[in-house]
Amino acid sequence: MVKKNKIKYLCNGCGYETNKWLGKCPQCNIYNSFVEIIDEDISKTNINLKEPSAPIKLTEIDSVKITRQKTGISEFDELIGGGIVPSSLILLGGSPGIGKSTLMLQIIENLSDIVLYIAGEESPEQIKIRADRLKLKNPKILLLQEIEISKILNTAEKIKPSVIVIDSIQTIYDSAVQSAPGNINQVRECALKLMEYAKPRNIVVFIIGHITKTGEFAGPRVLEHLVDTALYFEGEKTNDFRILKSIKNRFGATNEIAVFEMTDKGLRGINNYSNLFYFNRKDKVAGVSNSVVIEGSRPLLIEIQALVNSAIYGNARRVARGISISRLSVIIAVIEKHCGISLIDKDVFVNITGGLDIDDPAIDLAIAMSIISSVKDRAISVRSAFIGELGLTGEIRAAARMLDRFNECRKNGIDNCIVSDQNILNFEKSDISQNIKIHTIGNIKELLKYF
Ligand SMILES: Nc1ncnc2c1ncn2[C@@H]1O[C@H](COP(=O)(O)OP(=O)(O)OP(=O)(O)O)[C@@H](O)[C@H]1O
Ligand SMILES: [Mg+2]
Repeated sequence: MVKKNKIKYLCNGCGYETNKWLGKCPQCNIYNSFVEIIDEDISKTNINLKEPSAPIKLTEIDSVKITRQKTGISEFDELIGGGIVPSSLILLGGSPGIGKSTLMLQIIENLSDIVLYIAGEESPEQIKIRADRLKLKNPKILLLQEIEISKILNTAEKIKPSVIVIDSIQTIYDSAVQSAPGNINQVRECALKLMEYAKPRNIVVFIIGHITKTGEFAGPRVLEHLVDTALYFEGEKTNDFRILKSIKNRFGATNEIAVFEMTDKGLRGINNYSNLFYFNRKDKVAGVSNSVVIEGSRPLLIEIQALVNSAIYGNARRVARGISISRLSVIIAVIEKHCGISLIDKDVFVNITGGLDIDDPAIDLAIAMSIISSVKDRAISVRSAFIGELGLTGEIRAAARMLDRFNECRKNGIDNCIVSDQNILNFEKSDISQNIKIHTIGNIKELLKYF
């Protein structure tokens, strides 16, 4: 049967497929993200049975002991579960200029085998400037300025590296694919070729990819299912702290974070970052409250700031830094419905200090508290923390690992914790430090009694 090619459209942000072009992706809500792809039409009725492959019994496969390779950057090694696993594919994503190439060079500096560094974006001279700044001396790092995938793999075949670094996947192309470098098809095809080449040869591949804060035009997102480990850099370019988060890890825990400081000598790991995101104010200010979130395995005390103002330029604006805008919209809707506070004609700005992106839903209560505090222009005690998830009916849901969160409060001088009344079932009063007073609430309405 003759195969027919047909046109499809793929969202560059999340990989959503559609038969016609759309201005806004219905899945990830990004505008102008659809690109045209040619899709082979394979007949569904004609199943072409080929020579069978032989399956093997799981119980008969020999166990292998993984020897992880340490990079010497202990924060990075810990983040990925204790070092690099042989033949793994590691995606390193982040916004432009955040420090991806810097970290990559620092990681490979301490490796003992040959590293092939594919420089698709910068000239060897530019990379040398960075290498000098980082004082790199490893003679086994070989630079290759090439962007055609088959030439890259051919070179690798000759020099037999144990690590390949692709900087970045958006600049690499496969001449068999029609679209331009950076297009989602190219990104996917090149990554697949790298995987097919590297896995049987036990080569570790690092893939650097650009990704914006909102995930726009972010080819790397569609590689997440393909790679073994996906790491994303977070943080503001305007401050020196960079947070590296593991989003996926086949060989270790996920949602762990490592914190680095960008210095003139490169990225410096920060081991004790527990109070880096906490402002430790002396005086209380309206629109500010604290919470403790669990990032990876660690509790972190953070400050949540909100600013609520009259909207004078037409539509009220909602701006969120550190949480998703949809989360902020839900919290605003719950406040309006259950606390009787109207925000329809108000601009609402929410900011998590330190450039951290928070996924832990236990932060909801503190976000609501900061917003209400700003609306009322009344400050709440700097020595209190609000921990709990908000439900749509206004109920406060229990958060996990409360004892760790209380300990974090105690260490930082917070002596009042406002938590869900469901949480009290999860721990014994005697477990809690005498220094902390626990207040339980069942509904968001009860926040109003703190003013
Ligand atoms: N001399 C310096 N002192 C301190 N920080 C520096 C210095 N030079 C560069 N930087 C930092 O390094 C960052 C650039 O790092 P790097 O080139 O590794 O980022 P990148 O994520 O690879 O960027 P790109 O997206 O352009 O590839 C700059 O944004 C700056 O913060
Ligand atoms: Mg770079």
